[in-house]
Amino acid sequence: GILYLVFLFNVSDTVHGCRGGQVFSREEHRVIGGAIERLGLQLLENLPIGPKQPNVILSPLSLAFALAQLTLGARNETEKLLLKSLHAHGVPCYHHILGSLVPHFSKTSLDVATRMYLRPGFDVKLSFVEDSLARYRSQPVPLVSVEEVNQWVENVTNGHIPNFLESIPHDVVLMLMNAVYFKGEWKTRFDPQVTSKGAFYLDSQNSVSVDMMKSVHYPLRLLDDPELEAQVASFPFKGNTSFLIVLPLPGKENVSSVLPKLNISDLYRRLPQEKTMQVNLPKVKLQYRQELQEALTSMGLGSLFSGPDLSGISDQPLRVTGVRHASTVELSEEGVEASATTVVTSMRSVSLFSVTSPFIFALVDDASLAPLFMGIVTNPAPDNDPMLNDGPLGNSTMSDQPTTDNQIRSDQIRSD
Ligand SMILES: *[C@@H]1O[C@H](CO)[C@@H](O)[C@H](O)[C@H]1NC(C)=O
Ligand SMILES: *[C@@H]1O[C@H](CO)[C@@H](O)[C@H](O)[C@H]1NC(C)=O
Ligand SMILES: *[C@@H]1O[C@H](CO)[C@@H](O)[C@H](O)[C@H]1NC(C)=O
Ligand SMILES: *[C@@H]1O[C@H](CO)[C@@H](O)[C@H](O)[C@H]1NC(C)=O
Ligand SMILES: *[C@@H]1O[C@H](CO)[C@@H](O)[C@H](O)[C@H]1NC(C)=O
Ligand SMILES: *[C@@H]1O[C@H](CO)[C@@H](O)[C@H](O)[C@H]1NC(C)=O
Repeated sequence: GILYLVFLFNVSDTVHGCRGGQVFSREEHRVIGGAIERLGLQLLENLPIGPKQPNVILSPLSLAFALAQLTLGARNETEKLLLKSLHAHGVPCYHHILGSLVPHFSKTSLDVATRMYLRPGFDVKLSFVEDSLARYRSQPVPLVSVEEVNQWVENVTNGHIPNFLESIPHDVVLMLMNAVYFKGEWKTRFDPQVTSKGAFYLDSQNSVSVDMMKSVHYPLRLLDDPELEAQVASFPFKGNTSFLIVLPLPGKENVSSVLPKLNISDLYRRLPQEKTMQVNLPKVKLQYRQELQEALTSMGLGSLFSGPDLSGISDQPLRVTGVRHASTVELSEEGVEASATTVVTSMRSVSLFSVTSPFIFALVDDASLAPLFMGIVTNPAPDNDPMLNDGPLGNSTMSDQPTTDNQIRSDQIRSD
């Protein structure tokens, strides 16, 4: 097999003026970054969130890869529909530019597994295998057993996502697999000795106790956004990525009402310079597993699961029978450098960024601004029992509650 693959990589592939290995501009990457962001936001809006599933975590980039690979084998209306849902219609060289982002994965703290499994017996077209390899360094794989799938997921996520599937239904014909493990690697790490228990406010009535990472001198780009009615902060991460947190102001907005208004490139344009400030951030390890069929159907991709035209993959009738996504996100004190003393900007008031209520996050590639990872956290400790908040119940908003160290004191939140 190896020789065969090497041979395929060397096939010259100039398609409609797009060349493999071509270098694309920052603007071209940003267009794709925006398309990936729209896909991610749409999925987040269509995935259930509530007491049973309080957190949603997904990798828009890896889902874009999976759907784009499928698009290579789609024809006619199905191809148009997929390109539309990828926000790729009218983007020249879409597959080439998206494929050129593949190397970014290896430089980040993200372990991504994306694969397309086909039931054996299907006669896969060589052109599809070639295109998938050339564009996305991926190829369709015959579905052998649930053990093989699980072993592969475990391998590529360095053992962090075991037992990905319980079983494989008999009728599976084509399945898109997506597994992501992400561990935050801050440029400035937190001191584990300072981490202590703190309250995270689920709503105006309930809170949970979480391990809160703390720093009194943390370099951060912080924006108080009056339009979003949220605080937005960007933490520099390893590998030219940054970690964006959008924290709706409790009592005014919530994660669901802020989501439709998010625009990452707009936020990055408006985020001020880094300043040192006080930061409180929950330490979390969250797992998420979801079958995405329903969400994709409500996004207009229902025909993938009924009667798509995938004649670019095989002449035999094919339909997608599953889109599985699993992700694990871990935010701990670790980082790539010891707490660095960065340029300290003088401040008139002490700024504070304290993440003690539901928030939206994204791991953003600094060059393309594509979200590699995105999520909503409404309960960072779903296994802990909620407690009643201190203070008046019922009518109160967060800011009415007695101030504690771990709470947002809106009077002190000033970015300049
Ligand atoms: C963000 O806003 C800019 C204009 O300010 C727009 O060009 C871009 O498409 C928007 N991005 C998304 C993902 O909506
Ligand atoms: C679908 O596309 C193929 C070419 O891939 C073409 O031969 C066929 O006529 C198209 N079918 C429809 C219904 O448009
Ligand atoms: C997983 O990794 C082991 C050891 O590297 C290898 O032997 C095995 O083939 C891999 N399995 C899959 C399904 O990728
Ligand atoms: C990060 O970007 C800088 C230029 O902005 C570049 O010199 C450096 O090699 C990049 N590092 C990585 C790990 O991509
Ligand atoms: C979020 O706020 C909107 C109104 O702005 C409200 O309709 C919705 O129920 C709220 N959602 C949650 C989860 O509190
Ligand atoms: C809630 O507000 C109403 C009127 O604003 C007041 O009568 C009531 O006592 C308040 N309840 C609590 C628990 O504070």
